[in-house]
This record gives sequence, C-alpha cells and structure tokens, in this order.
Amino acid sequence: MAETREKLVDVKNLKKYFPLKNSMFKKGNQVVKAVDDVSFHIYKGETFGLVGESGCGKSTLGRTLNRLYDPTAGEICFDGNDIASLNNKQLQPYRKRIQMIFQDPYSSLNPYMTVEEIIDEPLEIHTRLSKGERKKIILDILEKVGLKKEDMEKFPHEFSGGQRQRIGIARALSTNPDFIICDEAISALDVSIQAQVINMLEDLQKELNLTYLFVAHDLSMVRHISDRIGVMYLGKMVEISKSDELYAKPLHPYTQALLSAIPIPDPIKAQNSKREIITGELPSPIEMEKGCRFRARCPFAKPICAEVDPTLKEVEDGHFVACHLY
Ligand SMILES: Nc1ncnc2c1ncn2[C@@H]1O[C@H](COP(=O)(O)OP(=O)(O)OP(=O)(O)O)[C@@H](O)[C@H]1O
Ligand SMILES: [Mg+2]
Repeated sequence: MAETREKLVDVKNLKKYFPLKNSMFKKGNQVVKAVDDVSFHIYKGETFGLVGESGCGKSTLGRTLNRLYDPTAGEICFDGNDIASLNNKQLQPYRKRIQMIFQDPYSSLNPYMTVEEIIDEPLEIHTRLSKGERKKIILDILEKVGLKKEDMEKFPHEFSGGQRQRIGIARALSTNPDFIICDEAISALDVSIQAQVINMLEDLQKELNLTYLFVAHDLSMVRHISDRIGVMYLGKMVEISKSDELYAKPLHPYTQALLSAIPIPDPIKAQNSKREIITGELPSPIEMEKGCRFRARCPFAKPICAEVDPTLKEVEDGHFVACHLY
C-alpha cells in the first residue's frame, strides 16, 4: 500500500517567487510566481513524473528542491529533515545525496575537462577518498552507464548526444546519491536513444535504490518510467495520480487537454478520436488574478472558478485534483 511507504521527499506549501526588475512600463514590487504553494511527496525508490507546458515552473521546482534556489516559503523535508532554510554549510551532507541530470549535457559538462575529471570533481568535493580509490569508483560507474575505460581520457565533444548524457548520469551517480532530479534529461535525444537511456535509468534505479523526479513537458515521455505523475499549471500542481490512472482517467481539464495533444500513432484511431485543443492564451505568472488559473482556457469554467482558487483534493484513492468540477 502506497500510504505505508516511506517518503524520501515531502514538500509542503513550497513557493518560489522571482522578483521582477522594474521596467519602464511597470513600477512596484512585482514578482514571478514560478512555484506557488506546491505540496506533494515522493516515496523512496519511486519515480515521480512532473509534466506541464513550458514555463509552468517544473525546473524552478526541481532547482528549489535541491536548493540551487532559496525557497520563498514552505518546507522541503528530505529523509525526515527540513532542508528549506539550511545554509550552505548545513546543506553539505545533502548536496551529495541529491543530484541533478540536465537536458543538455553538452552545456552542463565542462568542455575542457576529461570524462575522468568530470566524474571525479564531485567525488573530490564530497569525499575524503584517495585518488586511487576515486579512480576505482569512476571505473565502476563508467561500466554501470555503459562507457568504456578508454573513455576516461576523452573530452565531451568526442561523444554522441546519448553518450554525453551517460557521462552526465555517471557524474550524478558518483557521490552515491539517493535522489536524482532528471530535468528533461532525455528530451533532446533521438527516440531510439531515449529508450536506451530510460532503460538504463530504470536498471540503475533498481540496482542502486534510487528515487527519481523525472521532469518533462511531454506526457508521452514520462508515462512508462513514472510510478506517479504530477501535472503543473502556472506554478500550481493541478493533478497527482498513479501513472496508469492518469492516462486512463485524467480528471483536470488541463490534463485532458495535454493528453489529447499526444499524437496517436494509429491513423484510424486518430481520425475518430476527438482532440481537445487548449484555447486561450497562457496567462502570465506575474499578473495573477484570483480564482483558478486555468479558467480562461477551460471549456467547463463556472462562476466559482473566477472567485476561488481550487486546492488539491483526493477524489479517488491516491488521485488528487485541484478543480471545482470535482
Ligand atoms: N532565474 C529566474 N529569474 C526570474 N524568472 C525566472 C527564473 N527562472 C525561471 N523564471 C520564470 O519562472 C517561470 C517558470 O520557469 P521554469 O523554467 O521553471 O519553467 P519550466 O516548466 O521548467 O519550463 P520549460 O519546460 O520551458 O523548461 C517562467 O515564467 C520563467 O520565466
Ligand atoms: Mg525547464
């Protein structure tokens, strides 16, 4: 039963606002509410998928969780300890336990460092191991991610995109983390390479007992790897559900629209199926009016939607939705 499982990450009412610099046209203390009162948790050993349109706050949420950003408000409990307001020194033991893999390994890997140096860097920072001991670990990790011993001496530009992502994964694994945030980690790769990297991440998860937050803007990409999925819209979590259930029975009109935007490979099925097209502009996360943020684009909006911001409620076992229709 999900409820009895131990939580590795437990986020409560997390907010991350970015102050907006005053422009010629607007004055005052305006903020971008990139993450606005988000609560959710991730169980140990689970993969939690996070989806939503570009700009909805997925990367900001990931970067706030691993404390690249200071939260504006809220709690981030990691393995039972709130790390939301820890300073840099206090964060040290957590830095090695929480790692990140980025979309574009080419820009996240230093082009002037060899693969060995790239993987060694976090080991040098976070451990007191000797050079020989670290080398043993590096060789072991290279094998885990399917790279060869000879690759240690090479530079990032000597690899293909998929191989470079393997280097990024090796670097993230080097400190023996518990939690890995994969921010669009496979989005830039060819479809065939995506499958290889996903399979590898799944194997590594089992072998090393890892917990993943898997961020993607595309719902089709997170389906198979995720145990549960959270859907974000303009800084808010609007739906959380087990992966299969979300696809079988999406509740939020926004999730329904996102799902119907996935291309259907079967042309006959595609002809007969009704596709919901999201209409209306994506509102700005700066000028937030009261009420539901999706209402301007929602075909089912009711008067209450303009008045009250809906909160997440559990409408079925483990299936949460923030919508006045339920
Ligand atoms: N460092 C920053 N300073 C100011 N605003 C920011 C900053 N980072 C993000 N934002 C704003 O916060 C909002 C959320 O951005 P974020 O990058 O988290 O979205 P995302 O869901 O990851 O999008 P994508 O799918 O394109 O990666 C956007 O409106 C963005 O402009
Ligand atoms: Mg992003």
